[in-house]
Amino acid sequence: MILFGPDGASGCGRGVMPFVRQRLPKFAEAVFIDEGDLPPRVNGHRCLTWADFLAEPAESRAVCLTVADSSVRLSLTERCHAMEVGFFSAWASRVLIMDDVQFGGGAILSPFVSLTSNTRIGLHFHANLYSYVEHDCVIGDFVAFAPGVKCNGYVVAQDFAYVGAGAVLRQGDPGAPLTIGHGAVVGMGAAVTKDPSPGVTVVGNPARPLTKT
Ligand SMILES: CC(C)(COP(=O)(O)OP(=O)(O)OC[C@H]1O[C@@H](n2cnc3c(N)ncnc32)[C@H](O)[C@@H]1OP(=O)(O)O)[C@@H](O)C(=O)NCCC(=O)NCCS
Repeated sequence: MILFGPDGASGCGRGVMPFVRQRLPKFAEAVFIDEGDLPPRVNGHRCLTWADFLAEPAESRAVCLTVADSSVRLSLTERCHAMEVGFFSAWASRVLIMDDVQFGGGAILSPFVSLTSNTRIGLHFHANLYSYVEHDCVIGDFVAFAPGVKCNGYVVAQDFAYVGAGAVLRQGDPGAPLTIGHGAVVGMGAAVTKDPSPGVTVVGNPARPLTKT
């Protein structure tokens, strides 16, 4: 038996499981790995703790990390490396991938995602429902796009950037991309016209740094 585990039976994990199941090799089982207080099965799939997942007799084990928080995803990848658990990418059948698109391992591409030509995408990228990445974009590691993100051409999203639902990223220019800084957060619905600095949260139209009173 080979075990494939979308990590977490949260909303994201349950959204990913149907397309993991579609591509499951014969004799493999897809399970949720979750430390929460869960029933034995969710949507027909067994729920295992990490300890149970590792204890199951299996020829090999691989996971797809569905946790939205990229720093948690990073610590889970380190745990997986230490335990010699591999990663797999999960993409829905209705995903459009155009010419010369390269993406790293552990990607999750939800239904109706489009990755257009000549884009480079790093490790553990999440692109949720209906998001698109236009031509000539460069997406770093552990980047996540919530549903409906419109990422136009010549955009760079540095490692750990998070873009909220329905945000629109203005196109950059060749040699002068719009750059979402390392770990920056773009709020849902934002229209990003200028580079968000590393670690900063921006919201609104046009997007400005979020200041809390
Ligand atoms: C931007 C964001 C990260 C801020 O979260 P937060 O730090 O917890 O901020 P708060 O909820 O405390 O809100 C702080 C203020 O910003 C406002 N605000 C929050 N998100 C906003 C947004 N996207 N656009 C405009 N204003 C926003 C709040 O109304 C609040 O205003 P107030 O101080 O006048 O009451 C978050 O609201 C967001 O947009 N996350 C993305 C959600 C998403 O897309 N999820 C997809 C799940 S699949």
